[in-house]
Amino acid sequence: MNETLVDSTFRQDVLTGLTAPHKYLLSKYFYDAKGDALFQQIMRCPEYYLTRAEAEILVLQSTQILQRCMDVPQPFDIVELGAGDGSKTIFLLKEALRLNHSQRYYPIDISPDILSYLEQTLGPKLPGMQITSLAGEYFARLEQLQLTSNQPKLVLFLGATIGNMLPDEALLFFKKLKTYLRAGDHLLVGFDLKKNPQTILNAYNDAGGLTKAFNLNLLHRINRELGADFNPDQFTHYPVYDPLTGSCKSYLISRCAQQVTFDPDTVIRFDWDEPIYMEVSQKYSLGEIHQLALQAGFEQVDAFFDCRHQFTDVLWRVG
Ligand code: AVI
Repeated sequence: MNETLVDSTFRQDVLTGLTAPHKYLLSKYFYDAKGDALFQQIMRCPEYYLTRAEAEILVLQSTQILQRCMDVPQPFDIVELGAGDGSKTIFLLKEALRLNHSQRYYPIDISPDILSYLEQTLGPKLPGMQITSLAGEYFARLEQLQLTSNQPKLVLFLGATIGNMLPDEALLFFKKLKTYLRAGDHLLVGFDLKKNPQTILNAYNDAGGLTKAFNLNLLHRINRELGADFNPDQFTHYPVYDPLTGSCKSYLISRCAQQVTFDPDTVIRFDWDEPIYMEVSQKYSLGEIHQLALQAGFEQVDAFFDCRHQFTDVLWRVG
């Protein structure tokens, strides 16, 4: 997509969200340069246990994960959706090289910048691994890959990114993903597990205020890129976790009755205490994950946990 089209889609999505009966913004827009930097800091902050838990799984159990994929006799391609900086994936890739079971890694990400960073940093650390980065939307790039390679695949979807969809959306996503896979292909998905509600809430309300800044940054981005005049100080960060549904939702709450102008013809009014729904970070039980696999048409091969059982990487297979 060219830049003007990207800007106009951003503008359209923002205005659609802010004129809806219950105002919302899309969390995929959190990730501008500042948002990326804040997210890196969140992943290192004491309350955000998810990244450390998944890193532990990949550091300690990559051998077992790969061995569970080895019912296919040929080497497989490793494809990663939303590859990010690859700092956790490298443990799995190193092990795949050592076991001589995979020499091709295809990271897919919407950001060409993150992919070139990934190639530069991972390349020298993984001699013998052919890294072909694919910039763009997941499904478009998977379609392209179907034409390029005939090898079986292990698809990685790590980091609890699936949690940024509601369960119904996640089911549709997996059903669609399956149409790009063949019998014998594997999928490794990172899910954050339901646990003590306070532990979850703290992860999205860190004492250092990083998650608050991460949410408010989207208002700054809208000001900068769409010419709006949000006063971010007039909004507070409000995360809630419902232990029954497993949905951790973040809102920004308007601290007063106010209006935000995009241009003279586009003015959005906020009531005192009116919420903007910003993001869901969905948590699952093991039973719900198993059910999701079955409904989407996968068989669950195994589940891998960190030592505290806070997080799981589950291995699914196309039957
Ligand atoms: C990217 N995603 C899995 C993160 C999460 O936990 O939902 C984004 C995030 N939002 C606030 N903190 C982290």
